[in-house]
Amino acid sequence: MFDTILVTGGCGFIGSCFVLQQMKQYPDIHLINLDALTYAGNPDNVKEVADDPRYTFVQADVADRPAVEAVFAQYHPTQVVHFAAESHVDRSIDGPDVFVRTNVLGTQVMLDVARKQWQQDACIDTARFLYISTDEVYGDLPLESTEKFIESSPIKPSSPYSVAKAAGDLMAQAYHRTYGMPTLITRSSNNYGPRQYPEKLIPLTIKKALAGEPIPVYGDGLNVRDWLYVEDNCRAIDLVLHQGTPGQVYNVGGNNELSNIDLIHLLLHALAQQTGNPEETYTRLITFVPDRLGHDRRYALDSGKLCSSLDWVAGSPFMESLAQSVSWLRGTS
Ligand SMILES: NC(=O)c1ccc[n+]([C@@H]2O[C@H](COP(=O)([O-])OP(=O)(O)OC[C@H]3O[C@@H](n4cnc5c(N)ncnc54)[C@H](O)[C@@H]3O)[C@@H](O)[C@H]2O)c1
Repeated sequence: MFDTILVTGGCGFIGSCFVLQQMKQYPDIHLINLDALTYAGNPDNVKEVADDPRYTFVQADVADRPAVEAVFAQYHPTQVVHFAAESHVDRSIDGPDVFVRTNVLGTQVMLDVARKQWQQDACIDTARFLYISTDEVYGDLPLESTEKFIESSPIKPSSPYSVAKAAGDLMAQAYHRTYGMPTLITRSSNNYGPRQYPEKLIPLTIKKALAGEPIPVYGDGLNVRDWLYVEDNCRAIDLVLHQGTPGQVYNVGGNNELSNIDLIHLLLHALAQQTGNPEETYTRLITFVPDRLGHDRRYALDSGKLCSSLDWVAGSPFMESLAQSVSWLRGTS
């Protein structure tokens, strides 16, 4: 009997990387990808596995309880990795409603349907529900501090996006404590890599640079993010799913803290090297724009727990993986 794993949001950036990795790694897997295909979901992201008999795609909304119940009743997944979310902070500032529906209600529906099915199937002790959370649930740190968030740091989210993600994170913890649900949580820092929707900083910068259009930089450009290669994150998610302790939270950081403006210069340097154009062709496009409302200053994660308890390392070399991402965005890899 094959393990059936249900991945939500598997047509998005991180979810698609996870789907492709899992299909490679586990020959006996049956993977269900449940995705509503919002603007951020692209079926081409997983086209390599679309015809694989071990793969099933279901177009559905995680907040649509009957649709989620039908998937559980038909396929009886015993592992759930819940990526599906509205994921862009700027969009959450413009219109928070859908963030509450998908990230809060959708997560509660997923948890509740899984709980009832697993109780009925008497597999609640061996099943696993992994909620994909974010470092943004901790809020931000001052630029001048050297502090990093650990898993027991207070939850203090700032934007409608991070508040909705924090609500889902806390709901997963409540289901563990209240109902004994085998929930696990990963909180990762900013991911980079192929297949990211071009509204986020890295793909947006490359897209604008290639089009010769202004490259927008919020505020003074000094806001700091910790960059994690998406494949390293997906390896961490796989480890936590299979070896993590239910009820636990695991930080996943890249240990690559950079200000936005420094990151943009690195990207434009890589782009200039790849195209042979002078760097100035691209750097002259950098345009400072009014800051994002409530913009978090610095995120930094301590991933010591994941490294020591599950032997994880963020192994991908930063400059090389960044250059590969640029080359993917140029459509040359
Ligand atoms: N991208 C990052 O740097 C980052 C960092 C930390 C945590 N996360 C978290 O990781 C997860 C994945 O992020 P991403 O960057 O891949 O997001 P994404 O926006 O690229 O993809 C989201 C996917 O979810 C699907 N989706 C959205 N609403 C849905 C709904 N109601 N029902 C079913 N499917 C729905 C979309 O169609 C899309 O395929 C999210 O939960 C996000 O909060 C992302």
